[in-house]
Amino acid sequence: MKNVLVLYYTQSGQLEEIVQNLSAPLLASSDINLTFCDISLEKPFPFPWEKAAFFDAFPESFLHIPSKVVPPSDEVLNKKYDLIILGYQVWYLSPSIPVNSFLQSEYAKNLFNETPVVTVIGARNMWVMAQEKMKVILKGLNAKLVGNIALVDRHINHVSVITIVEWMFTGKKEKFGIFPKPGVSDEEIKGASKFGEVILNHLKNDSFQQLQENLLEKDAIEIRSFLVEMDKKANKMFKKWANLIIKRPNSRPKLLKGFNVYLLVAIWLISPIVYILHLLKYPLVLNKIKKEKAYYRGV
Ligand SMILES: Cc1cc2nc3c(=O)[nH]c(=O)nc-3n(C[C@H](O)[C@H](O)[C@H](O)COP(=O)(O)O)c2cc1C
Repeated sequence: MKNVLVLYYTQSGQLEEIVQNLSAPLLASSDINLTFCDISLEKPFPFPWEKAAFFDAFPESFLHIPSKVVPPSDEVLNKKYDLIILGYQVWYLSPSIPVNSFLQSEYAKNLFNETPVVTVIGARNMWVMAQEKMKVILKGLNAKLVGNIALVDRHINHVSVITIVEWMFTGKKEKFGIFPKPGVSDEEIKGASKFGEVILNHLKNDSFQQLQENLLEKDAIEIRSFLVEMDKKANKMFKKWANLIIKRPNSRPKLLKGFNVYLLVAIWLISPIVYILHLLKYPLVLNKIKKEKAYYRGV
């Protein structure tokens, strides 16, 4: 009998649906003892979001400043797991505050020590650098990352920006005017069980070698080179903004408004320019992009 922990956080329920569908084959197997744990904070973040709260979450998200988590039950804590499936979303190019807070809490130390981990990301589309940060966090916990699955909104970047804003501020994951439904598609959410089957096979064979390769065969990850470039550039700017805001608590409201304006300019003015430049230099940096893609598809 193998013990598997499914640890996740969700606001809208999207990530919960993803990890539940993914876990269905494990749940159906008599060889697997599955435990679910949804992360809660002592002071939960509101959903739907209000604009001020949405921007207020930026510095702590980006700088990985933790909040207090509600202790998980003894049933969750008093087991040694053969695998942890960690479902997380990206907030401001970093693992979300609730997930990051859990990983920094005393509870994570025992749970993750020497434990294989599969990360399952449910984000808009910019998750690559957040996963790099996740790799460092997991290493610090002495955990072993053996697989990664990233489910995203597949629509054009700017379309997904418009629709996610509407979703986050109304709480409704619905079609908005002429725009498509936001977030991960229903089809991909339902189809997440295909990843569970792959994970189950590896659990039964007592080896996670080749797990990521087998997940990739099932389209676990798509890397868009333009988004990776934007992610890296935005990380540099976010670092400056986050540190500035944290160092000047008295000016926080004003600076957050400045960050809001910066974000609008970055998305609607700077990113189209970066996109055009990206297309122009694409043939010249093809080898570099190929290497990068191979790296970010791995674990
Ligand atoms: C404050 C905030 C910041 C976000 N930043 C990003 C981001 O940087 N990159 C990204 O791909 N998605 C981002 N998202 C979208 C989330 O990753 C996620 O897809 C969405 O919040 C739904 O997750 P849920 O399962 O918690 O409802 C952000 C969402 C919120 C609320």
